[in-house]
Amino acid sequence: DRSIKIAPSILSADFADFGREIRAIEDQGADWVHVDVMDGHFVPNLTFGPPAVKAFRPHVKTFMDVHLMIAPVDPYIEAYAQAGADMITAHVEAGPHPHRTLQAIRATGKKAGIALNPGTPVEAVEYLLDLADMVLVMTVNPGFGGQKFIHSQVDKIAQLRGMIGDRPIHIQVDGGVDPKTAPIVAKAGADVLVAGSAVFKGGSVGQPQVYGNNIRTI
Ligand code: DX5
Ligand code: ZN
Repeated sequence: DRSIKIAPSILSADFADFGREIRAIEDQGADWVHVDVMDGHFVPNLTFGPPAVKAFRPHVKTFMDVHLMIAPVDPYIEAYAQAGADMITAHVEAGPHPHRTLQAIRATGKKAGIALNPGTPVEAVEYLLDLADMVLVMTVNPGFGGQKFIHSQVDKIAQLRGMIGDRPIHIQVDGGVDPKTAPIVAKAGADVLVAGSAVFKGGSVGQPQVYGNNIRTI
């Protein structure tokens, strides 16, 4: 279905209390929980290995969406699948064989996503769509939360919507999504909105003084 889903990124959560943070976002209406995996090589930051993702699993009652910003990616697909991801998204820029990568994700029985950095044209995924459940359009350069939304990507979202046609493939947008940019990307054709800092404003959703709104308002 084409209804808009909200996928808060726990990259902006309180790292000492993930169980409580995941509960808080799901209580407030999160559809998916977005987990940003970074390797200090494909992107200049380090986050969660498979044991961390495995520890999140029992807390996630909705859908665990694992965004792998790692290269190489193929050697780790099985481990993140075993850790309990529901969807695994790899970057088209992560290696020379993204088609093989999607086949490997599908072989684990998980949903498969393919991500595009801001500098990568939409044509890069044209021949991958039959293996993809989702295309992720990055609206910041990956690596950090709290960056400024790159407006040139809105046109890419619209192009992708046309390329996908009536195939049941989600378009996810990640980076700088907030109450101002969310309607813009939704109108262009995105249906899964990732938001980190806009949800976890003060570093946690558990602090009502810094987080007053229901996340659906994004
Ligand atoms: C960026 C990550 C994003 C990030 C989004 O590398 O993939 O998921 O956490 O954060 P905001 O919403 O703060 O831009
Ligand atoms: Zn992400």
